[in-house]
Amino acid sequence: MTRAARINPSILAADFVNLERDLHRIANADLVHVDVMDNHFVPNLTFGPQMVERIQAVSDIPLDVHLMIEDPDRWAPGYAELGAYSVTFHAEAAADPVALARRLREIGARAGIALKPGTAVEPYLELLAEFDQVLVMTVEPGFGGQSFIPDVMPKLDALHAARARTGLDVWLQVDGGVDRSTITIAAEHGADTFVAGSAVFRAPDIAIEIDALRELATAHIH
Ligand code: DX5
Ligand code: ZN
Repeated sequence: MTRAARINPSILAADFVNLERDLHRIANADLVHVDVMDNHFVPNLTFGPQMVERIQAVSDIPLDVHLMIEDPDRWAPGYAELGAYSVTFHAEAAADPVALARRLREIGARAGIALKPGTAVEPYLELLAEFDQVLVMTVEPGFGGQSFIPDVMPKLDALHAARARTGLDVWLQVDGGVDRSTITIAAEHGADTFVAGSAVFRAPDIAIEIDALRELATAHIH
């Protein structure tokens, strides 16, 4: 099955006091990746529902919310209720990932589950039907600007094989250290949805970078 790559710039690398300006700069993106961090699940703090609500109000592009928070069972549905297109929570933090994913879908959001680099994918392969997206972290969550960890590629291979076997239309996302060189590696291992923070926002021309990343990934996707 041929898929067009999705490029989701991470506004973690944007200028927080000029966020509306930066949202306009990524107008050719597929989704806007919004990293919510609570200083507990990860040692960093970003923003919460009030900010996400404002971003949602000014963004023409649908939001891809990545929750790096404790107790997503309690907090994730609120982000779906704000109208986020996609809400991804961490497997390591959720008490009942299947019940939470069902709740998110019921509210009308796509349900995503994220795996830290050290988290095994096997338990989730048989649960693929419960999720619209699996996020394979290619760095330890918490900060932008880190290096892509190629060691997690076997997890993408396993997900890619399970997707082919089941015929499910689940998106396979990578997040962390994605740039023009690493995006092709992830695409070859089955990823179709790519989060990029530094690579996009530090580029001399943001719109050109988004299109270049999409083109590169699409050429390597399978
Ligand atoms: C890291 C975040 C990422 C981050 C990626 O915890 O989940 O979305 O913004 O940043 P880069 O692309 O700079 O690695
Ligand atoms: Zn993220």
